[in-house]
Amino acid sequence: MGNRMATRDQTAEHRRDSLQRPAKPLNNRAHATPRPTAAADPVKNLTDRLNRDRHTRLALMFLEQYSEIHLKDLVIDKMDDRRRIVIGGYELANFGSDSFLGLDRDPRIQKAMVEAVGCWGTHNGASRAFSSVELCTRAEQRLARWLGVEDTLIFPSVTLANVGLIPALAGDGDLLVVDRLSHDSVQQGAKIAAANGAVIKELQPCCAQALDGLLDGLLDGELEGGCVVAVDGVYSMTGKIPPLAELDEAVRRHGGILYVDDAHGTAVVGQRGRGAAHMALGSLDGVLMVGSLSKAFSCMGAFVTCTHELKDLFKVRSSTFIFGGPVPPPYLAAVCAVCDILDSPEGDKLIDTLRSRIRRLTDGIRSLGLPLLGDRSPIISVAVGDIEQTLEAGKWLFDRGYYVQSATYPAVPINAGVLRIQVNANHCVEAIDGLLNALEDLQKEFNLPVSGSNGTA
Ligand SMILES: Cc1ncc(COP(=O)(O)O)c(C=O)c1O
Repeated sequence: MGNRMATRDQTAEHRRDSLQRPAKPLNNRAHATPRPTAAADPVKNLTDRLNRDRHTRLALMFLEQYSEIHLKDLVIDKMDDRRRIVIGGYELANFGSDSFLGLDRDPRIQKAMVEAVGCWGTHNGASRAFSSVELCTRAEQRLARWLGVEDTLIFPSVTLANVGLIPALAGDGDLLVVDRLSHDSVQQGAKIAAANGAVIKELQPCCAQALDGLLDGLLDGELEGGCVVAVDGVYSMTGKIPPLAELDEAVRRHGGILYVDDAHGTAVVGQRGRGAAHMALGSLDGVLMVGSLSKAFSCMGAFVTCTHELKDLFKVRSSTFIFGGPVPPPYLAAVCAVCDILDSPEGDKLIDTLRSRIRRLTDGIRSLGLPLLGDRSPIISVAVGDIEQTLEAGKWLFDRGYYVQSATYPAVPINAGVLRIQVNANHCVEAIDGLLNALEDLQKEFNLPVSGSNGTA
């Protein structure tokens, strides 16, 4: 596969290109669609044009070539409370859910949603710029209380938070530093900020020394605006956590602020699940944390931590807040119910259960000598490398009754494919042990890389 796709690490280059490349002139139309005649079918013209795009062709070719093993776009026919699923008649243990605490199956969360439907209906049909239901204010305050911050502002998803907030934080003349490995939605937000005149710099590697070097060079120069540094709290494909305390120190030294997209750390990492930034810094004072309500929360949406004053500023500066719709009220009721659990001894117990499942799996993977990436969040990735081998390994586990996500380029750098395992608190111990047995056999069958290679732990 390596030489049928590109042969080098394109992730960085692709991102750098798309951030810095000047717009193509419209008359540069080497592959332009012929001007349609009056009788032409516009939908067919559009379809043909999209089909001719080289990135699309590559993606479609990939899906066709590996149709038997890529395991994408699956349909789950059935599921139960312990993460057993049925796909195409096969019964499997599902290690591909980011509902990490199993709260999607919790009767209290389900009841909160159903009761809210009776009270508020299924949807508040207006942008929040016009009106929000009182339940939204309550959910924002409840989140703030759980996290120990002054306030929060809810968005319909982390993607919409990043795309709306990042351009709101860094505009004309400001500096925005983006970790090269941060989530696609952070990169998309950066592109909009760049279009608005912000200076965008890529951080690679994501460490304090590199950041210091970058900021020393830039902020002693002509730049007079603000400085925002955007990173992930937990990398979504590897489960690794960047050095947030050191990064925060470096940003503060240069008068900037750290923005942490902690989608995967929310409700599972750190004390009471307050996330990777809270774990690293002891509080969320002086940083902006974006959390997910769609993963461990098992609801829908996202939030950013803020002061009351910043909240008012975000409301008038974030385009996705102003021009988009809100999180439906039943989910807001569920968010309050989840916060009540997280902020209680029962929540501590639930997170402990999750951590003991994570430890059982990571200890087992280590003892097999397999190359384990992150081990402090519920995302446990095993490095495989080659794209084709990663897909085949995922299919081999599927056939043994275990669904894990085989993640390949462009979700990870080329030839840095991983088996991405997501551990949930409601996985039974037998499922974890069964997966470990399957991994042991997989290792023999596939001659997988060993621990210590590929930057693994
Ligand atoms: C770090 C990170 N940010 C953002 C997102 C997107 O979140 P959402 O589905 O809420 O848009 C994800 C999704 O997995 C993620 O891992």
